[in-house]
Amino acid sequence: MDDVESTRSELLSQVAAAADLDALERIRVGELGKKGRITALMKGLAGLDADARRARGQALNAMKEEVVVALEARKAALADAALDARLASETIDVTLPSRPERRGRIHPISQTIDEVVAIFGEMGFAVAEGPDIEDDWNNFGALNIPPEHPARQEMDTFYLPGYLPGERAGEQEVRRMVLRTHTSPVQVRTMVSQPPPIRIIAPGRTYRCDYDATHSPMFHQVEGLVIDRDVHMGHLKGCLTEFLRAYFRIDDLPVRFRPSYFPFTEPSAEVDIGCSREGGTLRIGHGADWLEILGCGMVNPLVLQNCGIDPEQWQGFAFGMGLERIGMLKYGIPDLRTFFESDLRWLRHYGFTALDVPSPVTGV
Ligand code: DAH
Repeated sequence: MDDVESTRSELLSQVAAAADLDALERIRVGELGKKGRITALMKGLAGLDADARRARGQALNAMKEEVVVALEARKAALADAALDARLASETIDVTLPSRPERRGRIHPISQTIDEVVAIFGEMGFAVAEGPDIEDDWNNFGALNIPPEHPARQEMDTFYLPGYLPGERAGEQEVRRMVLRTHTSPVQVRTMVSQPPPIRIIAPGRTYRCDYDATHSPMFHQVEGLVIDRDVHMGHLKGCLTEFLRAYFRIDDLPVRFRPSYFPFTEPSAEVDIGCSREGGTLRIGHGADWLEILGCGMVNPLVLQNCGIDPEQWQGFAFGMGLERIGMLKYGIPDLRTFFESDLRWLRHYGFTALDVPSPVTGV
């Protein structure tokens, strides 16, 4: 039995001395595996007589059991130690101030859209969208801009090659495809596809063949449309005055409604805000001057009719404005073309951080 005892003490001290999980595994495989020492001792039992075999077998089993238990215990201890070491070396100081992220910037046009959506969202407006490629019925016809109307030339439309088949019942003519010249076709799409009451804004890209400091062939507008049974000009004035004061963050910003003409509204108005141009610099707020900022009006009954809404039952107002324009005015950006030049220095200067999220609570 001495060999059992010496094997036992040798293996137990090997296990105790194992420095890591790999060393432990080598012992387990080497000593307890098929070709291991304990297995060899077990095989030797076959040559013994019954009594000796029972006594030696018990001793061998007890020894094997003891080694297995020691292996498990050592393994658990080593795993604990390894975890402690990781915890000690991988600590992070959660009290460190965050590193300012200098690279990413929100483009001013995205920020302006978010601001406009936040303000009108508070007033219960939903956001509607439409495609950049429109047919000329949605972009012009339904909005009471007939084929010979000068607005079609004034808008310097990009016409696309090809035609769309007409979709109106009984309609014979084909429709030309255009890059939408304004967001007003989203009014048409909304009225055709959902029953009133309607309260939407439609921000998005628009296109005109134009290029100078205040025009770019691609720019952005936001359209607004409210249709209900008894909406009147007072609602229009209140809504837009509220919006402009919230947007420019001037509680008593002077707002003026000036009669104007749009084919899709009747009556129509242009809206000016108070400003001063003293010393050649434009300052929004109080002053002797006015600055034109947007167009609006009561939706022309012909437009309602074109979109399948009964003008005897429903009426409403609409408005539209340029997003670059209001962004330029608020953030002092002098040239509209720079919005689309992808100049990183410009974006770092005029851009916003991801944490400047406009909301009615944090302000716009
Ligand atoms: N669609 C006009 C434009 O692009 C802007 C506009 C004016 C929209 C008056 C409207 C409106 O909805 O009522 O110049």
